[in-house]
Amino acid sequence: MKTFTIAVIAGDGAGKEVLPPAKAVLERVAKKHDVTFAFQDFEWGADHFFRWGRMMPAGAIDLLQPCDAILLGAVGHPDIPDHTTLNGLLLPIRRAFDQYANVRPAYLYPGVRSPLAGKQGGDINFVVVRENTEGEYAQVGGFVYHEQPEEVAIQTSVFTRRGIERIVRFAFELAVKRDQKRRVTSITKSNAQGYSMVLWDRVFRDVASEFPQIETESLLVDAAAMNFIRRPESFDVVVGSNLFADILSDISAIIIGSMGLAASANLDPLRRFPSMFEPVHGSAPDIAGKGIVNPLAMILSGAMMLEHLEMTQGAREIEAAVAAVLAEGKIRTRDLGGSSSTDEVTAAVLEKLS
Ligand SMILES: NC(=O)c1ccc[n+]([C@@H]2O[C@H](COP(=O)([O-])OP(=O)(O)OC[C@H]3O[C@@H](n4cnc5c(N)ncnc54)[C@H](O)[C@@H]3O)[C@@H](O)[C@H]2O)c1
Repeated sequence: MKTFTIAVIAGDGAGKEVLPPAKAVLERVAKKHDVTFAFQDFEWGADHFFRWGRMMPAGAIDLLQPCDAILLGAVGHPDIPDHTTLNGLLLPIRRAFDQYANVRPAYLYPGVRSPLAGKQGGDINFVVVRENTEGEYAQVGGFVYHEQPEEVAIQTSVFTRRGIERIVRFAFELAVKRDQKRRVTSITKSNAQGYSMVLWDRVFRDVASEFPQIETESLLVDAAAMNFIRRPESFDVVVGSNLFADILSDISAIIIGSMGLAASANLDPLRRFPSMFEPVHGSAPDIAGKGIVNPLAMILSGAMMLEHLEMTQGAREIEAAVAAVLAEGKIRTRDLGGSSSTDEVTAAVLEKLS
């Protein structure tokens, strides 16, 4: 029997509530497919920070490295600045393991109401691919005259030909694999950012020429924000920089009904290091601890992990179970207009799986 070692970082708030449901679902699927998941829990995040002054220990990356994949809940606490939580845990993991492709599917499940009028299940079906290691989140910069009246902050974006090329190529390959609308949309702001985004446009055109069967479109990020609302059904694969795709993928998450449905993967497509799977949402401090957090985004992130581990059938089973629960419409959490608890939704998915 094959055993996969899975590092689990539940993190904070809602993260702690959505991880047990995902584990239960994965264990159920594992039984059916004759594999085992050996979960290794790492209690890192805000509590670790309050105790030790850092979000995770110094040797954290070495502890994660031998694992086959990482499941992450969410990090973030109202009493810790968000840049501390992000830079203390999430970003170092993404960078250390060169998880350069952040993949965020946006699918409107039948039975779920989009905040956009007139959209039916399946009408929205696209994937946002975000460059995940450089760009605007490269953390290059500093303060001059720190905390003085004349203070200056410098934050530099880093765009490399290699970094752009590999994420754009990933997006085209995904469009080929999806075999749906066969279209890749590139997001830039090259009218205003005349160096980084102009390089992005050039590299995009070069890579596109290798995929003549795929239609292309280039949008400025502001136009893209508008078109995610106006014509979401037209998109297939959307590729953008760290910042732009981060923001756009919150729009794509909410137009499919709830942040509680948006899954994501941080992939090292070359499989040199463990990839990490997490919901798009954060620690949701406004609802955490009440037993009402929607676990489906985390559960669907687990399905993305199975796909990466080449357990495609198991991934499809989880998606089908989630789709069935949503289509019935009886059991759903408050964010989807229901009144069920996290546990009730989890039990419903588990029942569909058996
Ligand atoms: N990847 C991450 O770990 C990550 C991502 C985003 C934000 N954060 C952190 O999370 C904290 C809160 O950030 P925020 O409020 O901007 O974003 P958030 O995603 O936590 O919450 C935004 C809204 O969506 C709702 N929501 C989120 N997840 C839900 C779920 N599973 N079920 C039902 N409703 C859900 C919340 O109740 C809230 O109204 C901050 O500290 C932030 O830095 C972490």
